[in-house]
Amino acid sequence: MPPSAVPEPPGGHPGWPAVLGPLRVRGHEVGLRPVRLRDGGDWARIRVRDEHFLRPWEPTTHGGWSRRNSGVEWPGRWWLLRGAARRGLSLPFAITVDGAMAGHVMVGNVVREPLLSGYVGYWLDSTLGGRGITTAAVALVLDHCFGPVRLHRVEATVRPENVASIAVLARLGLRREGLLQRYLDVDGAWRDHYAYAVTAEEVPPGGFAARLVRDGRASRS
Ligand SMILES: CC(C)(COP(=O)(O)OP(=O)(O)OC[C@H]1O[C@@H](n2cnc3c(N)ncnc32)[C@H](O)[C@@H]1OP(=O)(O)O)[C@@H](O)C(=O)NCCC(=O)NCCS
Repeated sequence: MPPSAVPEPPGGHPGWPAVLGPLRVRGHEVGLRPVRLRDGGDWARIRVRDEHFLRPWEPTTHGGWSRRNSGVEWPGRWWLLRGAARRGLSLPFAITVDGAMAGHVMVGNVVREPLLSGYVGYWLDSTLGGRGITTAAVALVLDHCFGPVRLHRVEATVRPENVASIAVLARLGLRREGLLQRYLDVDGAWRDHYAYAVTAEEVPPGGFAARLVRDGRASRS
């Protein structure tokens, strides 16, 4: 049954902090946990190396990619992410692959009643791409959003050129709702984005992760 938009009792952030999974995908164990201060080394190593893979899809930042993604940047970012999560505004998850930090799935802009909505964004270490890891991670996060977090709607926006990300959203069954013109300043210009969404009424029987398991795309570890 979809959650009610009737105001909830105050206090806390339902469903946070949380550890999700694991799911096994092509021999890898995929899980999610809150981002940590000590993720900084892995975060910077992956993101500096993957500049050309990530930059076309991420919001424009000032100061140059290497500096913005260096290890010294992480503690400040982590602090902001942790604060937003504690205030119930976001769910900043690290993706772990075989126990190592390999990317992020972030639920942001969490608005509770009467909307009960949030958006999901993600990135993954390029050396692990194409194996279904992000699809599995986002499935676990969607199940969490429509379960303990009690959201009614989860949205995602994606550039029409981002074939891999569109494939993730399509595989999971999010609906394309339209084109947002000049929506976000990405890689130095205002870029159109498709708007995708899914609501609680559309959660597959047993959840998103269960459907991946049924379809043979993942297994429970
Ligand atoms: C988008 C991203 C997270 C996908 O991660 P991933 O773990 O490789 O995704 P998955 O393996 O779960 O799924 C990728 C799907 O895209 C497909 N795909 C990947 N590259 C493709 C391409 N060039 N053309 C067609 N399909 C492609 C894969 O076949 C797979 O589809 P399938 O489920 O039908 O097999 C990763 O590419 C990434 O970090 N990109 C940069 C950051 C980014 O774009 N973030 C999202 C912003 S909206």
